[in-house]
Amino acid sequence: MTEELEEQLTTIEAHSLCQLARCSSTEELEQWRVAVMGRRGKLSVILRSLPNLDPSTRPVIGALANQTKVRLEAALDKRKYFLLNQPSDVELADKDRIDVTLPSRSIKSGSHHPTTQIVKEISEAFATMGFQTIEGPEVELDSYNFQKLNIPLDHPARDMWNSLWIKQETSDQNSSLLLRTHTSPMQVRVMENNAPPIRVLVPGKAYRYEATDATHEWQFTQIEGLAVDKNITFANLKATLEEFAQRIFGDQRRTRFRCDFFPFVEPGAEMSIDCFRCDGEGCRVCGNSGWIEILGAGMVHPEVLKGVGYDPGVYTGFAFGMGAERISMLRHGIDDIRHFHLNDLRFLRQFA
Ligand code: DAH
Repeated sequence: MTEELEEQLTTIEAHSLCQLARCSSTEELEQWRVAVMGRRGKLSVILRSLPNLDPSTRPVIGALANQTKVRLEAALDKRKYFLLNQPSDVELADKDRIDVTLPSRSIKSGSHHPTTQIVKEISEAFATMGFQTIEGPEVELDSYNFQKLNIPLDHPARDMWNSLWIKQETSDQNSSLLLRTHTSPMQVRVMENNAPPIRVLVPGKAYRYEATDATHEWQFTQIEGLAVDKNITFANLKATLEEFAQRIFGDQRRTRFRCDFFPFVEPGAEMSIDCFRCDGEGCRVCGNSGWIEILGAGMVHPEVLKGVGYDPGVYTGFAFGMGAERISMLRHGIDDIRHFHLNDLRFLRQFA
């Protein structure tokens, strides 16, 4: 008798769940509830017969019947929730209608930052002339940023670079750390670790303790160049940089070299190009001079060569350094260096 009732309960539960899954409206759900749990429902009939059962089987069947009821009620609630939250046929029909004449949504893709773009372009120009591009540390030792570049401790030439120092325990100036003020220390690092011939290009961030304005940023990108070999002359420097200027600013560009001072080169020079706006006539871009200064350069100082163990009697070299943002500003007529860091999409999208 017990087994028979148990089986009946299992069957009722299984059947009822099957039927419940087929109910697709609130009316059908109500009909199902009446058929199963209503006064004359399948389950109710069993529950009502409990008092007639043998007292020994009554608790077992009673418990089973109640558990079945709880499960079926829970299933009913779940089904009800599901049906109520389903989109109606009308809604579905609306959703499925596709208007093939609608214009498609454009896919937005990003692009390289203008600084990245100019660095890449310049690297490529120099790559064709045999220069390999490498990078170096932005936190640098005093010895590399200054001393090995022929700028001794307490030398007034240090004033050319207002530095951002990193606070440390040590009072030993040799191991003092700073954010590199230029990419030139990589000249020394490269020479210390390699034998000539050397031809490298080193783009990277440089930092200065400076107020920002339209032409100055406390962080900017520099591109350093270095070539060392036997018989390297100033003529090689001029030819290389002339070629670079024409690649970046156009075939017609002429260059002008004038004396300048940097402690790590001798002689030192600044290079200008004739203004690409006015072809040297004089305009707003070139400050009416017809020339635009674009970089510093020179022949690697014998002291620097000696410092890395090269014999200045055998090897000579040239070096140059330029501001990447400045080159980009000139190329694209950008009037304020701060645009490069503002992340204004209206500015950035023009370089997409
Ligand atoms: N490092 C210099 C600066 O930041 C730029 C420079 C000048 C680099 C002359 C050179 C060079 O390699 O030869 O102002």
